[in-house]
Amino acid sequence: MDTVILEANEENIAKCAEMLKKGEVVAFPTETVYGLGANALDAVAAAKIFKAKGRPATNPLIIHVADKQQIYSVAEVNEGARKLIDTFMPGALTLVLPKKGNVPDIVTAGYDTVAVRMPDHKVALELISKAGVPVCAPSANTSARPSPTRASHVYDDLKGKIPVILDGGMCPLGLESTIVDMTKTPPKVLRAGAVEIDEVAKVIGDLDTEKVMVDTLAALKVPVGYVPKAELVFSAFYDNMSDVINKYYDSNKNVHGYRPVIFCMNFNADKYKGRNVMLMGESVAEYAKLLFERIREAENLDYNLIIAEGVPMGGMGTTVLSRLIKLSGGKVI
Ligand code: TXA
Ligand code: MG
Repeated sequence: MDTVILEANEENIAKCAEMLKKGEVVAFPTETVYGLGANALDAVAAAKIFKAKGRPATNPLIIHVADKQQIYSVAEVNEGARKLIDTFMPGALTLVLPKKGNVPDIVTAGYDTVAVRMPDHKVALELISKAGVPVCAPSANTSARPSPTRASHVYDDLKGKIPVILDGGMCPLGLESTIVDMTKTPPKVLRAGAVEIDEVAKVIGDLDTEKVMVDTLAALKVPVGYVPKAELVFSAFYDNMSDVINKYYDSNKNVHGYRPVIFCMNFNADKYKGRNVMLMGESVAEYAKLLFERIREAENLDYNLIIAEGVPMGGMGTTVLSRLIKLSGGKVI
């Protein structure tokens, strides 16, 4: 199958909406990462997503909606969920809710709950609204690869396996949504993501964050999640981390065929003089946005060892650290 990349203009969005209606899959941009979408109410269409990604059937999909009302058509919404919907949607928050009977089992991997979010991205919203159906979509990468933040990343992973990619440029947030399971008391955070957990807690109070911690620790033992082609290690965050990073860089350079690169904040670049660096911006939020993007860039430049600066815990720092741990399999230097 040929995979075409279409600029996300009115005409092409309409074309892709038609494809969704006909049961085809379409890769499309959201504010977090690119998704690989299909009609969420069509089990045959949803199956194509699992096939293209090589995704295990046990891993459920997020349903994307174009307006808040559509959430009520696929899920039961309780009081806490309603508050979060009003506050954060459209936006990078996904809620797990009891599902309604019209959602096929394949979408929810047989669970009686469904994950739902309304993306804050013009192209995604137009596509879903023109398709006239909710759209189930995981990130549009091959399973276990970093999530794609550009159309070219989707192409690299899924060319020949999907018919079309709507190109809406770089995703503004660059990493996945925060997921909260609203069927638990207190609600349980399943994934730290682009919305800060503290902001969610401000709206609904107590949150169970144990899973985020446990998963993070589990990744230290059993590398799960992403597999970058380059090996990734990261430093804990402290004043002199550049010394440790430089030492690690120098001792691995030219050894075991390593071509190292350092991921650092712009204002730290001077500390790594004479070494390869890639810049992660001026703030933790920018670091979060650029992380997946820089990994794919580094891979394309044939670097095979990424040494990433750590960031402070808290806020988006927690999200970035959870991704660094996943990416590195817990390899802290
Ligand atoms: O930002 C995002 O969330 C992106 C964009 C495309 O929306 N999507 C995304 O999807 O990251 P995916 O499939 O890569 O990650 C969704 C996660 C999976 O870990 C899945 O297990 C979890 O959501 N999930 C989905 N439905 C669930 C459910 N009913 N209960 C618990 N977890 C669920
Ligand atoms: Mg994913």
